[in-house]
Amino acid sequence: MTTSPRRVFIKTYGCQMNVYDSERMAETLAPQGYVRTDTAEDADLVLLNTCHIREKAAEKVYSDLGRLKPLKEANPDLRIGVAGCVAQAEGEEILRRMPLVDLVVGPQSYHRLPAMEAALREGRKVVDTDMPLEDKFTAMGPRPRAARGPAAFLTVQEGCDKFCAFCVVPYTRGAEVSRPADRILAEARNLVDAGVRDITLLGQNVNAWHGEPGGLAALIAALARIDGLDRIRYTTSHPNDMDDALIAAHGSETKLMPYLHLPVQSGSDRILRAMNRRHTADQYLRLVDRIRAARPDILLSSDFIVGFPGETDEDFEATLALIRAAGFGAAFSFRYSPRPGTPAAERPAPAPDVADDRLQRLQALVTAGQRAAQDAMVGREVGVLYERAGRLPGQMAGKSDHLHAVHVPDASGQIGELVRVRITGSAPNSLSGLRLG
Ligand code: SAH
Ligand code: SF4
Ligand code: F3S
Repeated sequence: MTTSPRRVFIKTYGCQMNVYDSERMAETLAPQGYVRTDTAEDADLVLLNTCHIREKAAEKVYSDLGRLKPLKEANPDLRIGVAGCVAQAEGEEILRRMPLVDLVVGPQSYHRLPAMEAALREGRKVVDTDMPLEDKFTAMGPRPRAARGPAAFLTVQEGCDKFCAFCVVPYTRGAEVSRPADRILAEARNLVDAGVRDITLLGQNVNAWHGEPGGLAALIAALARIDGLDRIRYTTSHPNDMDDALIAAHGSETKLMPYLHLPVQSGSDRILRAMNRRHTADQYLRLVDRIRAARPDILLSSDFIVGFPGETDEDFEATLALIRAAGFGAAFSFRYSPRPGTPAAERPAPAPDVADDRLQRLQALVTAGQRAAQDAMVGREVGVLYERAGRLPGQMAGKSDHLHAVHVPDASGQIGELVRVRITGSAPNSLSGLRLG
């Protein structure tokens, strides 16, 4: 008798760390006979790996759960789980609000999924939002061999001790923890053996990684010695954790790519103080100068929150001024969303129409900066790692060193090839170029 595999559908919301966690959740369930499927319709188990960062992201989970109702009614054996940061923040409340949910599992306890899954099969409901002392990555052991694309994420650090006044992450992910260097290096070697050439190190505060003396710069140096690994990136960094060695690495490590996401949130010192960011706008701009001195062609990106409690027109103008001064090649901007349990949620915020107007003005400015950075690439020679076939026949698509999407006509191009490309065109969201040699 053969048993057909069980299917798990995992939907990922939020940041890249959730993308990584979703992969690891699928891997822990594989010995249970689970294979991943792309639709909820043919799944035995649905996991929503959720994000709590803004209200909209969190509420989306509930509307998606509502949409699963007919599936559950048609198939009483279907099990539905909520994982990730909403699970951590809301716990059992989710079961009360959505009785169709069987499982609530936080971001630090999903290594226990096999046992939880067995309990679900017995008809029990499970809530596990522990932040256990054991490290889930150590508990799960080495990752299984699998065919992979040429670019991969690798979580090296989790949690946050910074407590920015607006942010839920310190509550949903817990305290800062660094994975040990030897585990990270072993995982990186495994990825490279499976065909990965480009690794992005992940952490909520990745540059606070302190798994060995020398910090993230030392880890990057050790990773750079792995043959076959060609590109290293890291995200997300906090300005206050950019130490001298890491800045210098941007000048000396040829495998460290010239792109850095360095969120600043605001250009007003008053607002930065109210946000508990612990640096001024000027300190940020001086840091940018030092990074550019180490790596003149680095492309910087950032995050901004507009409409933070107390933000005046003057504060907002200071943010626009910082954007002009820093010259970002990309930026992500958000309207402030009050989050339960955070200090800023208690404070009155600017009216929604004021915040929306500011958001539009800020986005127009960063879009212009993004276009300028892209247009400046035309005529330059860059590395491009082919990650997939392009939309047109005979075309390949991949990311440049500076993380621009690039399309290249290359009928004999192969996924996983790292090629030199002369950039010839700049469209709104991608570049085009010609392969050299
Ligand atoms: N650890 C990273 C990323 C945090 S979350 C960092 O320190 O930068 C990603 C982004 O979401 C933040 O940089 C911030 O711009 C935005 N964000 C966080 N909380 C928010 C809130 N309550 N409202 C609106 N945007 C928020
Ligand atoms: Fe949130 Fe601030 Fe920590 Fe980033 S540094 S995760 S914004 S508390
Ligand atoms: Fe969201 Fe949690 Fe990431 S709140 S941004 S999924 S750390």
